[in-house]
Amino acid sequence: MDSRPIGVFDSGIGGLTVLKELLYQFPLENFIYLGDTARLPYGSKSGETIRKYSTQNLDFLKSKNVKALIIACNSASTQMREELYQELPLYNVIDPGAEEAVRKTVTNKIGVIGTRATVVSKAYEEKIKILKPEAQVYQQACPLFVPLAEEGWLDDPITNLIAYRYLQGLLQNQIDTLVLGCTHYPILKNSIARVTGPEITLLDSGEAIARKIHKDMQTLRIQPSEKQTQVRICMTDSSHHFISLAEKVLLPFMVHQFEVINL
Ligand code: DGL
Repeated sequence: MDSRPIGVFDSGIGGLTVLKELLYQFPLENFIYLGDTARLPYGSKSGETIRKYSTQNLDFLKSKNVKALIIACNSASTQMREELYQELPLYNVIDPGAEEAVRKTVTNKIGVIGTRATVVSKAYEEKIKILKPEAQVYQQACPLFVPLAEEGWLDDPITNLIAYRYLQGLLQNQIDTLVLGCTHYPILKNSIARVTGPEITLLDSGEAIARKIHKDMQTLRIQPSEKQTQVRICMTDSSHHFISLAEKVLLPFMVHQFEVINL
């Protein structure tokens, strides 16, 4: 048994959709989350800058004696190489998301939406093609979704309109599966689903990564914990808005501690 926390980071509120799924599925685990709210958004920044920020975030979490690290940000996942972190299990959200998409699609037509950084990297497309060469991948960057999620405009008429504007072209390709390739997007799932309709399966990073962690706990790559004593959320800039939105996103789970940190 290992009661050390699992470290999770994102640029802001988005990775909390991953944390929420982890809290559901691993009620005995401890977590420390870092939202890099001072430097959000990542998705419009260069690969070099995203790598620099991500390395600092991982170093911070490592200094908190974590047993595993999860990059709960697709934009950061496109830039970080897991093999660089040999001393600790490190997870990105792209690989499990691509695996899930390949498992779910029937028509082999898969849509991927994400930030500009994620779409330009083609990380999903490459991974999906390795797993299923006959798959066709259609991508669309939806940069306005991140500020809408951070603003808390969930299922708002403006969000619905923007979702329609971004997604209508993608839907011409008869996709049957849509990867929400940004951890902020599940917060806007209602608006997205309103446009895509019931025929298209929406996949989010949280469920995909939780499935991978399950497997690794069975093989004991990660030793499970016996009791949850801490769910701690750190941010790099103080914001009451972030805290109240975080509490909403994580409902019904209780956060034991919010704190502002310096990297
Ligand atoms: N939530 C992040 C992602 O999954 C990025 C949002 C941003 O900072 O642009 O890509």
